[in-house]
This record gives sequence, structure tokens and C-alpha cells, in this order.
Amino acid sequence: MKLPSNVSLHQKTLDFLKTPQKMFLDGEWVSSIKGNTFDSIDPSNGSILTEIPLADETDVDRAVTAAQNAFDTAWKTLAAADKSILIWRLADLIERDIQVFMELETLDNGKPIGKAEYDVKSTINHFRYYAGWATKIAGSTLPSSQDRLVYTKKEPLGVVGLIIPWNFPLMMCAWKLAPALACGNCCILKPAEQTSLTALYLGHLIAEAGFPKGVVNIVTGPGHPTGEALVAHQNVHKISFTGSTAVGKRIMEKAAQSNLKSVSLELGGKSPNVIFADAPMNKVLQALHWSSFYNSGQECTLGSRIYIEKKAYQQVVDTLLENTKKLSIDSGLANPDLGPLISQQQMNRVQHSIAAGQKEGGEIILGGTRCAAAHLHDGYFLEPTIFSHDNDRLTIVQEEIFGPVVVVSAFEDFDEVVARANDSNYGLAAAVWTKDSGKALRFADRMDAGTVWINGYDQFDPSVPFGGFKQSGIGKEMGESALELYTKEKAVWFNY
Ligand code: NAI
Ligand code: MG
Repeated sequence: MKLPSNVSLHQKTLDFLKTPQKMFLDGEWVSSIKGNTFDSIDPSNGSILTEIPLADETDVDRAVTAAQNAFDTAWKTLAAADKSILIWRLADLIERDIQVFMELETLDNGKPIGKAEYDVKSTINHFRYYAGWATKIAGSTLPSSQDRLVYTKKEPLGVVGLIIPWNFPLMMCAWKLAPALACGNCCILKPAEQTSLTALYLGHLIAEAGFPKGVVNIVTGPGHPTGEALVAHQNVHKISFTGSTAVGKRIMEKAAQSNLKSVSLELGGKSPNVIFADAPMNKVLQALHWSSFYNSGQECTLGSRIYIEKKAYQQVVDTLLENTKKLSIDSGLANPDLGPLISQQQMNRVQHSIAAGQKEGGEIILGGTRCAAAHLHDGYFLEPTIFSHDNDRLTIVQEEIFGPVVVVSAFEDFDEVVARANDSNYGLAAAVWTKDSGKALRFADRMDAGTVWINGYDQFDPSVPFGGFKQSGIGKEMGESALELYTKEKAVWFNY
């Protein structure tokens, strides 16, 4: 591990990183059966943080057996109020160790530590929100003929597999674990191989909170073999996945071929961010560089396609350029505006997209290359990059890039921009900026996207459902809607 000279870490962070990492199976901390491991990398300098066990089919099978056993003997029969207390207690423990989570997330993922703080706080809120739901999951009684009672029950699915991406590692654990546990399921959490540390630290707090053993199990490793073993397992009843559209499709196939487990998917996006000339311009200009480059562009909802009404185009683009140039870029522990990309592989992908954009005729008006500063040399730092274009068929306009790259284009009228905004295989989110409320609401009506922001961007709340249309996914996480992902409804007919 390499640290900037002026940084000191919390003692608990140092102790955690010093201890050999294990997986959390059936309440025990174990190595993989074959003893295989992989390295966890700090993307700000390419150094190895620690080694992590690499789980294969046999390890995953142990986790599934533990989870099924915990479901049958402990979790299914525990009162909802007691589940609620455990979930709330976990939130309290995360709050106690917030500094440790922030440091581990920043070291492992690269994100600025101030942004990691936001993620941890949002994680705490998420667990508290679903702690409240645990006691409120109810069925209904239904109208039927005389001498007959028909009622429904919402039952847990049993063992669920939760597959997590690397861009918001801890927060995505919360988005899935919190509702899955509140609904009464036992869980197998598989963090992304690039960012397992906060999930593993969370495992220690799950134990400390007093969850019965096996209710949450954490297996670590890459998509193959670890993720695939979970997806193919006959006794896993659901997979909840966040990641790429390509892997999402593969998971659906494998789920169908195994036991027809249910699948919910939160996948890619290429969200349009539409600015009319009558927009509240100060707000737009303060937000636009963030809605383009937050988390170094590694966020599925970012407004990566910007459309600006012709009359306002030059003013908006000039200010976007000016504000983007001011964004500081550094190692996450220095708390800059932007940190590195997650890996050399992601850097290669993004650079490949930039090259394709240039080849197909997009014009780079800012950035486009790796950061030149000597102290960033060993990390995966890329300059925020802005393309201008007038051709929606370009690959950079159609495909998710997942790096600090946005495309801007001018439009002339409402119907044109609605059509262009919807011209995508994705339908995760969209935003519109205008002071004309009627126009804003008509735009929202016509967007084929799971979330629409009006005069704002990237807002989330545990109570608000989130999930994509089209190839951006299936199912809604967050809010009451997430309960549907983790329960099955049973109808009971009682003839008296
Ligand atoms: P990925 O989709 O391969 O990885 C996400 C998670 O799925 C990780 O935990 C990974 O280990 C697991 N996984 C991979 N293959 C699997 C399989 N066959 N079966 C089961 N689990 C599997 O994403 P990757 O390769 O890290 O990034 C590629 C692209 O995916 C990015 O450039 C971006 O476009 C998109 N992505 C989207 C995210 C989102 O928030 N919607 C998050 C991460 C990536
Ligand atoms: Mg890492």
C-alpha cells in the first residue's frame, strides 16, 4: 500500500488491511477451499492493498447451504420486529465506523473521500429505511363468495444472490441487502472483484450486530467462476444484479437454464440531459459539470448525452468547459473533485471509446488523454473529455462509456429533442431544464426512462423507486417497490 505523505488512516482501517482477508460463510471467516486468492488494487497508484480469497463453485455451494440452513432454522421464524432491530443496529454500527468505511472505499475504489462520505451516509439511511419496512410487509384479504376467506401473504424467496458493481461498492450492497433482509431472505453477497473491502468490513459489523450465522454470507471473486456459480446454483431463488447490460443478459439466460430463479437487473445507461434556452441558467451551469463527470463518469445515471437548445448552446458549452477545467483530479485521499478510474481495463475501454468517437467524426473540445501530472502517473487518471457532434449515430452517442466522457449537441425544437433523447437502447434516466412547467411535464411524459429529473440531476432517496426501462434493466430498487423484488405472493383459499 502506498499513501500520500500527509495522510494518516484510522487505526481500525490499518488493522483491517493488515489482517489476511477471509470470506464470511456461516458466521465464520474462511479462506477459499482451494486457497486461491486475487489482489485488491488501489487505482490511484496501482499498488496492491491486500489479497482476497477467490471463491469457486464449491465455496459458493457452502455459502448457499449455510444460507438455506439459516433460513430454515433461524431467519424465517424470527419475528419481524427482531429483524428490524438487527437491521437498525447494523446502521448504527456503520455510523460508528463511518471513517473506516470512507477510507476503505476511497483506497479500494479511488473515489474522493468526501464523496465516499456521502455514499456511507446514504448507506446508513438505506438500512434505516428498510429496518422500518420489516414490520410492515403485509398481504390482503380479498372479496370472495360467502363461506369463503381468501387472503394473500408476502413470503420471502429464501436464498438470494446479490451481485454488486464496483462504482458504488458499499451503497450498492445496501440497496440490495437492506430490502432482502427486511423481506426475510438469507443472502449471499458477491462484491465486485475490484472493490471487496467495504463489503468484507460490513461482514464484521453484521456479525457484531448479532445476525444469526448464515443469514448473510459474503463470497469474493470475479464474474467467473464466483458470480456464475451463484447464478447457476439450483438452490438460489433470486439474483439481484447491478452491472453491465451484457452480463445482465447472460445472467437471465443462466437463471433460466438453472432453476428459473427470478432476476432483477440494474444495468447501463446513456441518459439525455436536455437544456432549453429558457432554463434556470444559473442552476444548469452549477450542475452540468457534476452531472457529466461525477465519480469520474463511472455512474450509470450520469447525463452523458447533453442536448442544448441552439440559442443557448454557445453560452452553456463555454461555461461547461470553464467549470470542467477547474475540476481538481487527484488520489481520492486528497479529496479532489475527481479520482481515478477503477482499473487499467476500464481506462483501456474508455480510451478505446474516445478513439472510436474521433474516428467516426466527433470533435473533442476538451480532454481526451491520460492525465499528464507526474504524481498521477501510476494511477488510472483520465482527463474529463467533451465531444461535440451533430450525429446521433456515433458509437459515443449510442454506447455507454462509463468514464469521464460526455457528448454535447445542439437542437432546435421540442419534438426533435424528445425523439433524439429517446433514440437509445437504454432508458435509465433523463433530465430536462426549463422554467416552463408545462413543457417540463410534457417532456417527462414522453421520456421512455425510469427516472426523470426536472431542473435537477442525480437525486436519490431511499423512498423513491429507481430502475431502468428498455435495456437499462428489470425491476425497481428502493422504496416500497423493492419489496416486490424480494417477496413472493401466496393466495390462500379457506372454505368454511
Ligand atoms: P460487470 O457487469 O462485468 O461486473 C459487475 C458485477 O458482475 C461484478 O461483481 C462482476 O464480478 C459480476 N459478474 C461479471 N460477470 C459475471 C457473470 N458472468 N455472472 C455473474 N456475475 C458476473 O462490469 P465490468 O466489467 O466491471 O464493467 C463493464 C461495464 O459495465 C462498464 O464499462 C459499464 O458500462 C458497466 N457497468 C455498469 C454499472 C452500473 O452501475 N449499471 C456498474 C459497473 C459496470
Ligand atoms: Mg480496488
